[in-house]
Amino acid sequence: MAGLVTIFGGSGFIGRHVVQILAKQGWVIRVAVRKPSKARFLQPLGDVGQITPMYAKIQDSARVAELVGGADLVINLTGILYESGRQTFEAVHHKGAEAVAKACADQGVGALVQMSALGADPKGEADYARTKGAGEAAVRAAFPKAAIVRPSIVFGPEDSFFNRFAEMSQFSPFLPLIGGGQTQYQPVYVGDVARAIVTCGTDPNCAGETYELGGPKVYRFKELLELMLKETRRKRRLVSLSFGMADFIARFAQLAPVPPLTRDQVRLLRHDNVVSPEAKGLADLGISPTLVESVLPTYLDQYRIGGRFKDPAKSPS
Ligand SMILES: NC(=O)c1ccc[n+]([C@@H]2O[C@H](COP(=O)([O-])OP(=O)(O)OC[C@H]3O[C@@H](n4cnc5c(N)ncnc54)[C@H](OP(=O)(O)O)[C@@H]3O)[C@@H](O)[C@H]2O)c1
Repeated sequence: MAGLVTIFGGSGFIGRHVVQILAKQGWVIRVAVRKPSKARFLQPLGDVGQITPMYAKIQDSARVAELVGGADLVINLTGILYESGRQTFEAVHHKGAEAVAKACADQGVGALVQMSALGADPKGEADYARTKGAGEAAVRAAFPKAAIVRPSIVFGPEDSFFNRFAEMSQFSPFLPLIGGGQTQYQPVYVGDVARAIVTCGTDPNCAGETYELGGPKVYRFKELLELMLKETRRKRRLVSLSFGMADFIARFAQLAPVPPLTRDQVRLLRHDNVVSPEAKGLADLGISPTLVESVLPTYLDQYRIGGRFKDPAKSPS
């Protein structure tokens, strides 16, 4: 049953996969972002006029309400990894999510999916986790039927985790293991996350539920970097960095326009990021999770010396 869907943050890494699935299902799609010109690449994923990028800042509740108007389904994927100017965690993750949920309630929208993150906790140590938790609570209060989705690290061709470290390994002889690289993650494939979001928005059984999304295996941070180095066929030293030292470095690093590391990210790294055993997850949505090892070779090969077309058996490190 397709209709009209508004997707806040639909031009991002996860959003583009969600748009693709909904377009195939025949939905008319409004993609609400700050820079609609940067979302035009989505339009060929649908028929002429099916996908329309539209301007909206999640901080502007009047504009949010306009873009929610008439929608059968609303999906909120907006999120940031570091603060910059008016792009604060509080404004985007908490107040923005609340504005979307209130607009959905006021206008009688059928279903809402709110994107959160594993570790979301209104009392969390890191601002990212704390505001994601406050956002969840605000969404539940305004629109109790909302489905909330909390993934671990999401991987896929345009991800910001494996690509970032693979890029770093191209010019740096070593890679940092903050806290010794012992933090645990359960990476989940972007295609599985997108299917989960669409199911949450279209299956009435998901209303009011929270889903934690993780892949089939748990890895330590160090193991993830080792996997990346194996796929890019590079040998790099993994150097342990205490949390205290990482925090010290982040004080300066976070002053950069696009910070490579922030103090808040160091706080996040202190906590494991795995699905809790009692939580509902991908299996409850009928999705069998994809292994990291089966997808990484399809996009990390571009970082090998000589690129993806060179015979790997002959390439040096
Ligand atoms: N990727 C992961 O590993 C991961 C893990 C856990 C949870 N999540 C959550 O999943 C969601 C999507 O993540 P992603 O990786 O796809 O992020 P992304 O690639 O950075 O995309 C974020 C999207 O939000 C939009 N946006 C940012 N600030 C906005 C604002 N103030 N108003 C309106 N739109 C705004 C961006 O478009 P413009 O910049 O053009 O506005 C973009 O479309 C986020 O909520 C994130 O916290 C992601």
